Amino acid sequence: MTRLPLHSDSAASTEAVAVRLARCCEAQALIIHLMGELGAGKTTFCRGFLHGLGHEGHVKSPTYTVVEPYQLADLNVYHFDLYRINSYDELEEIGIRDYFNGQSLCLVEWPERAQGGLEKPDISVTLEYVHDERKLIFESVSAKGESILRCFNQGRSLTK
Ligand SMILES: Nc1ncnc2c1ncn2[C@@H]1O[C@H](COP(=O)(O)OP(=O)(O)OP(=O)(O)O)[C@@H](O)[C@H]1O
Ligand SMILES: [Mg+2]
Repeated sequence: MTRLPLHSDSAASTEAVAVRLARCCEAQALIIHLMGELGAGKTTFCRGFLHGLGHEGHVKSPTYTVVEPYQLADLNVYHFDLYRINSYDELEEIGIRDYFNGQSLCLVEWPERAQGGLEKPDISVTLEYVHDERKLIFESVSAKGESILRCFNQGRSLTK
């Protein structure tokens, strides 16, 4: 499995990296976990990722709503922020299984708040502070995630 660290010196750079990853994902079911402290750049990454998938409008943080849905041409994308969640039971109450339905693309900030109840992701992205800048660490968890990271690493998307 691949582990790929990248440096990001600005929010714009994090968004650009996320666009590049999205272009390797195509319209397929996928789960991406985003880890990192408050303000590390998880929502910034998701904003770039959604734009990379073709979403043209705003991307607001799901801090209060827990989930923000996006209906793209041939894919439903759900962007979660589980910061306020205390257990997987709380997620079952809001119908989490309807979102993780094997046909959608789920971006999950603060997945650890679900106390291990979520299914495994395909890719995890960890964002770490390096002074004012950030380190982004991409890790593949599934075979599907592995092939996406291989595409991402080879920069094949740049020619698309
Ligand atoms: N290299 C960088 N990558 C991403 N964001 C950066 C970077 N440098 C500075 N920033 C700034 O850090 C902030 C990141 O905020 P963002 O909402 O994306 O964080 P978050 O990880 O989603 O936080 P939360 O845990 O509260 O949801 C933004 O204000 C952004 O402009
Ligand atoms: Mg956020």
